[in-house]
Amino acid sequence: MPETAPERAPTRCVCPGSFDPPTLGHLDVVSRAAALFDEVVVAVHVNPAKSSRWSASERVAAMGEALSEALAPSDAARVRVEAVEGGLLVDHVRGVGATAVVKGLRTPADVTHEQPMALVNRDLAGVETVLLVADPRWAHVSSSLVRQVHDLGGSVEPYVPPAVLRRLARP
Ligand code: PNS
Repeated sequence: MPETAPERAPTRCVCPGSFDPPTLGHLDVVSRAAALFDEVVVAVHVNPAKSSRWSASERVAAMGEALSEALAPSDAARVRVEAVEGGLLVDHVRGVGATAVVKGLRTPADVTHEQPMALVNRDLAGVETVLLVADPRWAHVSSSLVRQVHDLGGSVEPYVPPAVLRRLARP
């Protein structure tokens, strides 16, 4: 009798962030997460303690558009984007049936920032964190720098996807 491969549940991760706005660095991390996991949930966090420039719905729409323009259709179909209103990250991770968080690491300061959060998330719910070393093309890019350059009249075209540029160009 031919052997059949055992059925396995799809692997699923969450890529969380403020994405205010999404950058090319964020897109790179999400697309690399989609190469590692069967399904990716991009969680756009609404942090009541942090004022954001873009509304959650704008950030979700921009990220969704950017991913559908950047990824192959077969990869885009495995990625969904949703807003997360407050609460613990691990509750959302568990709620969507994911086992891991995937984030990017740009600098040593990111390591210092991410390590305790990763350990707390594992303590709280056994959720693992996968930290992807940022592609050098995007290692210096952050949403806050993009906002600053744009506010001061500079071009952010090298740093953000076209979907974000289009929104920034709106009057
Ligand atoms: O893009 P950001 O602003 O660096 O994203 C930070 C985010 C949303 C991933 C982080 O603030 C977070 O994990 N928030 C959830 C709150 C939480 O679960 N805290 C306790 C464990 S660290």
